[in-house]
Amino acid sequence: MSDYAKGLEGIIAAETEMSFIDGQKGVLEYVGIPIGELGKNSTFEETVFLLWNQRLPKASELEAFTKDLRSRYEIPGALAERIKALPTTAQPMHVLRTLISELALYDNDPNANDPDSARDKSLNVLAKAPALVAYFDRHRRGLDFVKPDASLGFAENFLNMLNGEKPTETMARAFDICMILHTDHGLNNSTFTARVIISTLSDVYSALTGAVGSLRGPLHGGANEGVMHMLNEIPDLDAVEPFIMGKIERKDKIMGFGHRVYKAKDPRAFALQGLAKQLATDTGNQDLFNKSMKIEEVMTRELGAKGIYPNVDFYSATTYHCIGLKLDLFTPMFAMSRLGGWSGHVIEQLSNNRLFRPTAKYVGPHDAPYVAIGDR
Ligand code: CMC
Repeated sequence: MSDYAKGLEGIIAAETEMSFIDGQKGVLEYVGIPIGELGKNSTFEETVFLLWNQRLPKASELEAFTKDLRSRYEIPGALAERIKALPTTAQPMHVLRTLISELALYDNDPNANDPDSARDKSLNVLAKAPALVAYFDRHRRGLDFVKPDASLGFAENFLNMLNGEKPTETMARAFDICMILHTDHGLNNSTFTARVIISTLSDVYSALTGAVGSLRGPLHGGANEGVMHMLNEIPDLDAVEPFIMGKIERKDKIMGFGHRVYKAKDPRAFALQGLAKQLATDTGNQDLFNKSMKIEEVMTRELGAKGIYPNVDFYSATTYHCIGLKLDLFTPMFAMSRLGGWSGHVIEQLSNNRLFRPTAKYVGPHDAPYVAIGDR
């Protein structure tokens, strides 16, 4: 039996054909294609097809896949009514986790795990997640729902449902690129969670629900909200240095930095930095971008030698803010795109399944006496 690895660091627990990461060199590829290339040239829909089929689609295949996805944008009427009854104080990640689970209640055969069913259910959840988030956000703002528009792409449709108006082409494309960059990332915690759950031959809904719960944590996808809180706390550029130095001295974690796998700058952070810069200029948020750059400069100087650099969450905070998203929608955005990756891993796990069941190293006592309750 091999040694105990706390946090499963360095343990290979699954095989995947979806994404490849070289943490030392800062490389991320989806099915062999560098992430930067996909960000420049692909769309979220095409990226999901690539991950689920391990090849780029032909034009006719992409058209059929997109058409199928769009035809599933709307959520069941009863579920829409249910959203209207949710507390307006609820947090969107809790809402998304709950409602993905509830989608199973509207499926006549929720437990079917054959390959076609797993793909069908995955596509269904992916297509409906934007409406779940947008409807809830409009409900808490006291606004009527804006129905999905099947003539729009995934990113554009979401922003249209959220804001009640079509985004500009630049905004829609920026959001689409964010979705691509967040779609998959090896055996990260939420993906592992999804694979662990489906390995019991449970069901797609349970696996995806569990993954949302995992992603919410501030050490994982919740870090993008933490970054925005930090940026809001720092009043101006001059305050960056003392703020960050104070945190380092107190040994506080700085959100949006560090990674279990990357010991160089996360390749997604390069792409998001470019997007954040452009959007900050377009939307008059240069202050935010300048503060981010200064944080990176101080962090690299102080902790770069330890391999701590910006991760995907750092510049996605500024990007999402400039797109006009409320802070507590940042992590749901991450979840919406990662559903593409989680589903791909669920499908992959089912195609070559073995139950995940690791071993714990017992460190408690042995041969302990049973002490009667009156004598304790
Ligand atoms: N700020 C300051 N110090 C840090 C940071 C950070 N963000 N990240 C790691 N360190 C230090 C840590 O204090 C420890 O120092 P020492 O050896 O002196 O005790 C050392 O680096 C190793 O840290 P660790 O927490 O044991 O490393 P890990 O591989 O378990 O953690 C991590 C990886 C992502 C949880 C961690 O870097 C972290 O907490 N970062 C902040 C949260 C964050 O941005 N999460 C998003 C991750 S990327 C996207 C995603 O997964 O959603």
